[in-house]
This record gives sequence, C-alpha cells and structure tokens, in this order.
Amino acid sequence: MVKPVYILNGPNLNMLGKRQPEIYGAQTLDDIARQCKSKAKELDLDVEFRQTNDEGELVQLIQNAREGACAIVLNAAAYTHTSIAIHDALKMADIPIIEVHLSNVYKREEFRHKSFVSPVANGVICGFGAHGYELALDAVVKLI
Ligand code: DQA
Repeated sequence: MVKPVYILNGPNLNMLGKRQPEIYGAQTLDDIARQCKSKAKELDLDVEFRQTNDEGELVQLIQNAREGACAIVLNAAAYTHTSIAIHDALKMADIPIIEVHLSNVYKREEFRHKSFVSPVANGVICGFGAHGYELALDAVVKLI
C-alpha cells in the first residue's frame, strides 16, 4: 500500500478563519483539511493532516514521516523563519518535501523572507491561499 502524504501545519494555523482573514482567508483549518482530503481522493493519494503549535512535536512528526509517509507538505508557519531543528529534521526525511504558505511571504515583512525550510524542500508554493495545498498535492504526484 502507498504510504500517506503528511500534510503538516505549524503554529497559529489552528486559528485560521479568525486570524487576519484579509491575509490568510476566511477558511478554517478544518475546511482546508476537507479540501485536501477531497483533492487527495481525486489523485488517489492518502493523506494524514496534522497541526501543532509545538516545535518539538513538529520535529517528531517530520521524523515519523521518514518511515511513515511518501511525501511531506509543510506549512511550518512562523517556525519556517526560525527553526534550525525543523531544517535538520527535514534534511533527514529522505522523501519529497513541498513548502506551502497561504500568503505571499515575499510581499510581507522582511523577517518572513528568510526560510529554513526552502533549502531542504523540493519546491515552494506561496500566495495562493488554501489552493496552495492542492497545488502541493499535484506536485507530490509528480515527485513520488
Ligand atoms: C504562513 C506565513 C508565515 O510567515 C506566518 O508566520 C504564518 C503563516 C502562511 O501560511 O502564509 O503563520 O506560513
């Protein structure tokens, strides 16, 4: 059986819908999870959709993906810009990694222009809102 795609979400993404909707959109994370599951079905992929506010837990999920997943779609949220631990975990993952951001981080504050994820990702999708997750699943199909 093909392993699932881990779709991993970092801090504050559990607040989507309430959190700066002018930047992140009106959809909740549950809406995005449903959208991903339906897209995955179309593509004949299985997905495991998770969110955590905890950096250590995100590192653990990435470590688990090494054995348990066929690819990682990661919106590490603010940890993108700060976490060497996540960078190191991704470096060991040995499976395709797609970095996703809802907003176009390059149009925003300068501190969001630095990513510790991008150097270890196969590609980056940002600025397309929730649709970016669907684009990432399309990319996974090409990569696995
Ligand atoms: C984000 C962009 C990050 O800069 C920010 O810290 C987030 C969300 C995005 O999806 O646009 O929490 O990853």
